Amino acid sequence: MIDQIEIPASFPDPGTVSGKRVVITGASRGLGALLAHAFSHAGASVALVARTERDLKSVAEALPGPSLVLSGDVTDEDFNEAVADATVTEWGGVDVWICNAGISPIVAGPRQTDVSIWRQVLEVNLTGAFLGARAAARVMSEGGRLIFTGSVLGERPRKGLSAYSASKAGLVGVAKGLALDLAPVGITVNVVAPGWFDSPLADGWVKSPELSASITGHTALRRWGAPADLTGAYQFLASDASAFITGTVLNVDGGYLLV
Ligand SMILES: NC(=O)c1ccc[n+]([C@@H]2O[C@H](COP(=O)([O-])OP(=O)(O)OC[C@H]3O[C@@H](n4cnc5c(N)ncnc54)[C@H](OP(=O)(O)O)[C@@H]3O)[C@@H](O)[C@H]2O)c1
Repeated sequence: MIDQIEIPASFPDPGTVSGKRVVITGASRGLGALLAHAFSHAGASVALVARTERDLKSVAEALPGPSLVLSGDVTDEDFNEAVADATVTEWGGVDVWICNAGISPIVAGPRQTDVSIWRQVLEVNLTGAFLGARAAARVMSEGGRLIFTGSVLGERPRKGLSAYSASKAGLVGVAKGLALDLAPVGITVNVVAPGWFDSPLADGWVKSPELSASITGHTALRRWGAPADLTGAYQFLASDASAFITGTVLNVDGGYLLV
């Protein structure tokens, strides 16, 4: 038994992602575009994934570092495999894959939820993330990082969003299962669960004083999330400092789940 803990000669910086090769899905706008900027400013190479090529190109043009634009649908198995192949061709592999693409149509209740909407939400948010992780696992090596964008609504649903909540709760199960599956090859799998951030997806809430007040009233810190509040969680989970963290959910919600 040791009587003194061994102090390392140096410590990994919890935000360092310089030189990492990072795939970000849902990168054409909103939180994915924000992540692309944060990782690019921090010295990473980023592959931007979404359906709308024009929007991806404008995000890419504004980045300070190298990027790839890969347009396609995350629900398409072949497309995900093609993204993985592109990382091998262009970069020799991938270090971090952020499954962030998501949709959240609001409906009035179960009778108004057309089953096609239910299926589409699960297809994009849950199956799309799984297919990305599945493709990533083929080309990632030891030290790889899979990060899913979940949501606090996976734990605390709101009216009209049952399909969305189911998809985000399901992601936690997928992440934990894959964390076990991929632990033997040294790949970690975690979820970042944002609270409420001003983005095109949340536009309806941001613009309604009543809905906005209901969000801030349920957030311990009494405000919406700002862009700079979110990116550090992803950078930490992508960095060498998080090597012993897998199968976890990191809520970045200003205490939304506490109130
Ligand atoms: N904003 C928030 O407050 C908040 C809170 C918690 C969690 N989230 C989660 O954060 C993630 C990003 O949300 P956001 O607020 O940034 O939403 P957003 O602004 O609507 O962006 C969604 C992104 O996903 C892409 N996308 C949608 N369907 C796709 C598909 N089938 N294939 C490929 N890409 C697809 C969109 O691009 P194209 O349309 O060009 O494909 C876009 O880039 C989502 O998973 C969302 O659930 C957001």
